[in-house]
Amino acid sequence: MRKTARLVTTASALATVLGALSLSPQLAIAADAQVVEEGKKIAFDRKKGNCLACHLVDDGDLPGNIGPPLVAMKARFPDKSVLRAQIWDSTKANPNSMMPPFGRHEILTEGEIDKVVEYIYTL
Ligand code: HEC
Repeated sequence: MRKTARLVTTASALATVLGALSLSPQLAIAADAQVVEEGKKIAFDRKKGNCLACHLVDDGDLPGNIGPPLVAMKARFPDKSVLRAQIWDSTKANPNSMMPPFGRHEILTEGEIDKVVEYIYTL
């Protein structure tokens, strides 16, 4: 009797763990997709990132061509932190950069920059 009870408890504990395991990656993907979507809004917003003023980005309207098209970002920035640093302060890599230093000049908040990076990294 006791053995059966223990078996049942173990089985249900296992089911709980398995359930949690199969659920959490889905939740993580949903959260990521939302962050990417919010990052895109910030990047396209003319009063926020306004990246389209100078870059061809994704399906954005009326892109400028002062900066290079933002494509193949994973290949060009294998290290995501280098991409973040470029957006945070472009004058580090090029002192004469036309690109606004979004972090250093507090044009975007740290959280907004994180979201933009997640979005740009999908391109
Ligand atoms: C006023 C124009 C301007 C705006 C606005 C601008 N950029 Fe740039 N960006 C540039 C220029 C010009 C370069 C080329 C490198 C340099 O001169 O610093 C560049 C370079 C980059 C690079 C490096 C690309 C590479 O392959 O080396 C990334 C990434 C980037 N910009 C992202 C962004 C994002 C994201 C935004 C919006 C949040 C943005 N830029 C807004 C002008 C701009």
